[in-house]
Amino acid sequence: MNSEAIKNGQLMPAELTAQIRDKYYHVDIDPFTDKKRLFFDNSGGSFRLKAASDAFKKVDDLPNCGGHGGVASDYLDSLRTQACKDISTMFNAEGGCIATSMTASIVVFDVSEAIIANVPGTNVVTTALEHPSAFDGCAIPAKKYGKELRVAKTNPETGSIAPEDVVKLIDKDTCLLSVIMTSNITGAILDIETIAREARKIKPDLYIVCDSVQHTPHGLTDMKAWGLDCVNFAPYKFGGVRGLGVGWLSERVMNLPHRKLVEEKQSNWEMGGCAPGMYAMLSAIFDYVCWIGKQFQDTEDRRELYVEGMTRIMLHERALLYRLLHGSDEVKGLLEIEGVKVAVDMDDLTQRDLIVPIVFDKLSCEDASRAYEKNGVVVHERTDASLYSARQVNSINQHGIVRISPLHCHTYADIDEFLKITAEIAK
Ligand SMILES: Cc1ncc(COP(=O)(O)O)c(C=O)c1O
Repeated sequence: MNSEAIKNGQLMPAELTAQIRDKYYHVDIDPFTDKKRLFFDNSGGSFRLKAASDAFKKVDDLPNCGGHGGVASDYLDSLRTQACKDISTMFNAEGGCIATSMTASIVVFDVSEAIIANVPGTNVVTTALEHPSAFDGCAIPAKKYGKELRVAKTNPETGSIAPEDVVKLIDKDTCLLSVIMTSNITGAILDIETIAREARKIKPDLYIVCDSVQHTPHGLTDMKAWGLDCVNFAPYKFGGVRGLGVGWLSERVMNLPHRKLVEEKQSNWEMGGCAPGMYAMLSAIFDYVCWIGKQFQDTEDRRELYVEGMTRIMLHERALLYRLLHGSDEVKGLLEIEGVKVAVDMDDLTQRDLIVPIVFDKLSCEDASRAYEKNGVVVHERTDASLYSARQVNSINQHGIVRISPLHCHTYADIDEFLKITAEIAK
């Protein structure tokens, strides 16, 4: 890979993008209105992969239960085994266990509470950029167990948090560090690897939890290299169906006391069983990324294929991000269109996932979103009127932003169309 491709991205070949597009439902036409539309709200919930959605439905139609013996039941059990293997490969994680729940929020809440309740220490460190699930997942048990909550501030220029601004809050009495991987508001990727390494120089056995809901669909995570204790994601933001949150837990987190039936094994963090179709859906997402990897690399190693596939997705999305910011000879980019501003600096695209916060000079975020909708574009405003975004947008000195989040199945033509509509709205 040449350095220019790494810096500013590289599109996948057009024929492959066409095949990728065809693997998703409802890319061009809104099934609700039957009209053409650009869906740029994939951070809210992404396009659904046909294979993932279909795999879920096919299995969910079976009335059988896992663990009951017999061919159909054994098949359902095998889906869970395969999905757990695939998720571990996805995160490059060894040992520990996979926890599933109805949402990613529940996973991070349960894990944070188990750590804060059971691990010695007098303070908990988190950041102003957290989604409320991770933030309140720290704040509520910290209050309950009498521990101090320390919050790393966002740099309003970058919309990110430098490792030293997190690490300076850690001391020998920190019982949990909970850090988001990619902000769902600013799109900044935090340098978790450096944060974890430097924090453990201060407290070698520090427990570290990472909300990777917005990064997992766009890039790689590596538990072996980073040594985290928990990472989570939400399949509905990664081509999957809604109704499932997934986390990987290290062995020491797995073994902490947690909500479970008395006789249930320690590795089970589920209350009741998750729909087996969900496991088929998870493996379908994993297979899809490996399929992309296979177009570029001839290997049967599933981690290698996944890494290759995600790298291609990441580079394609980075190229779309570059186009969105800088436009082309024919169309002005977001950085040049009058009346609109990108809310944070976007100098180094390697530190960004494809999520762009913008503000309009003469339009409120709500009005801008509705104007986009009238023009056949779906985006979402994140403002301080919502408990889901108030702290994060205020931390970049804004009352709100309009969040633009395309996906790797989009093309330059889609981005250009969006830029033309943006210029019209900004007028
Ligand atoms: C960064 C981040 N974390 C957590 C969540 C919550 O995911 P779920 O809806 O599965 O609880 C979201 C949802 O938007 C998110 O963006």
